[in-house]
Amino acid sequence: MVCLGNICRSPLAEGILKDKLDPNRFIVESAGTGGWHVGNPPDPRSVAIAKKRGLDIGDQRAQQFKAVFFDQYDLIFAMDQSNFQDLKALANSQEQLNKLSLLLEAIFPGEGVDVPDPYYGGASGFAEVYDLIDRACSVIAQEINEKFD
Ligand code: 4NP
Repeated sequence: MVCLGNICRSPLAEGILKDKLDPNRFIVESAGTGGWHVGNPPDPRSVAIAKKRGLDIGDQRAQQFKAVFFDQYDLIFAMDQSNFQDLKALANSQEQLNKLSLLLEAIFPGEGVDVPDPYYGGASGFAEVYDLIDRACSVIAQEINEKFD
């Protein structure tokens, strides 16, 4: 799960998808394309909306996406088109590119819809982001369970 800072959107996506998959079978991690927040916990507004919905994401710490992750993970989800383009530039084979998709393709196929960046907005933006990610992750979890049956 990849966004820009790894403090707002992708920590939510990590927590939400993890909660929908068997922890003994799947590893879910998140990262940012940027490195400004490396080592920091998620934004308090992300922690708060997750807590409200029953998830504890407070122990996560931000990391920067590294090209080697293309080899280490089977699927890589970008939160928005800008993250997608930055990740695409780091891929060095068609096989790696095939692992990459925009998260909301799961619920809006072919529409290129972004998870909006809630960083400069208020708490309602975080609730909207949570619900979008949650809907997409429900579909993705089902697809993963079928694909890796
Ligand atoms: P995120 O949000 O990509 O969802 O973690 C952002 C967090 C921090 C910044 C930008 C976006 N920033 O510019 O510091």
